[in-house]
Amino acid sequence: MHPIFPQETFLPAKILFKKGGLSDLAKETAEFGARGLVIHGASFEKNGFKEKIADDFKKTGLFAEFFCRTQGEPTLGEISAVIEKGRVLKIDWILGIGGGSVLDLAKAAAGLFHAKEKPVFYQEGGALGERGIPFIAVPTTAGSGSEASPNSVIIHPEKKVKLSIRHQDFLARKVILDPDLLKGLPFAVMCYSGMDAWVQAYESFISKHATWFSENFALKAIQLISRHLTPALNAGRDEDLGGLMLGSFFSGIAFSHSRLGVIHGLAHPLGVLYNVPHGLICSICFAPSIKLNLEAMGNQKYAIMSQAVGMDLLQKVHELQKTLKIISPFKGKPLLEKEKIIAETLKSGSTAANPKPITRDDVEYLLREIF
Ligand SMILES: [Fe+2]
Repeated sequence: MHPIFPQETFLPAKILFKKGGLSDLAKETAEFGARGLVIHGASFEKNGFKEKIADDFKKTGLFAEFFCRTQGEPTLGEISAVIEKGRVLKIDWILGIGGGSVLDLAKAAAGLFHAKEKPVFYQEGGALGERGIPFIAVPTTAGSGSEASPNSVIIHPEKKVKLSIRHQDFLARKVILDPDLLKGLPFAVMCYSGMDAWVQAYESFISKHATWFSENFALKAIQLISRHLTPALNAGRDEDLGGLMLGSFFSGIAFSHSRLGVIHGLAHPLGVLYNVPHGLICSICFAPSIKLNLEAMGNQKYAIMSQAVGMDLLQKVHELQKTLKIISPFKGKPLLEKEKIIAETLKSGSTAANPKPITRDDVEYLLREIF
């Protein structure tokens, strides 16, 4: 691996970063065909977005069916259901407007739309031969960074594991980053998704596979999120919402090119087992991971991140957790299926990218810190 540029780059074809960009959605989507499926979350109906988009689509001559997903992370069965629905409707494109789970579902369904096998085949590493249909991403949280990545994190319901389906063709053909969409997000959603984006940028920055290219996106994400998360939560000014949205997007670009680290290796089995928000698990593992990786990441990387957040990084993380009242939901709870959690963390591709080679003792240390 070259230290400057990754072997392959994964970037969405067109990115529109614009306050009020939602108004351009119908026009931007029309070039992919007249018929599509819009996958969205439950809040989409409450805040009037659905009505506005449906109206704009109608005026532009587009047919769109709306598909609301309720909660939790997407499953393999859900991908099949969306594809089946789309094939009956003879759609040309799939648009995801929502948080990471909505985008991951829309992305996988669009990417596997013409696939000959069931989604599980590709989740287990099968090669994808057929190109899907265009996927358009409009994030309403900041965020998972899913709009920037070729990955979909999907739950395998029988095996009870979260695994990625990943393909370069999964990348969004268009991304609309409209900071107005973050307005009115519930505090916990904005807080945990913002922390997830920050942790992703941190793990990317110190990853074994980091390059100059990924480090620059990761560092800018760290700077933007640490600066704008608290003000965005408190006052929701345009400048802070825009900074947060860009930070999350940059975090997605960074980790798509470097992979993540042990926090994400551990967060996946814990998230499935305890049904706790992914960003909350990432937040509480942040400080223990810094301590664990301090030597392996090197003084220089630590100093650069501290400079980006304007103070000692570890101190900043502690300070923010206190201000945002982020506490471990696991404290005082029994540690269930410890062996399974450890085994899955150790075999995760994210863990393999961690700068310190992770041992069983290291995972036990992280578990002790959060339980
Ligand atoms: Fe994450």
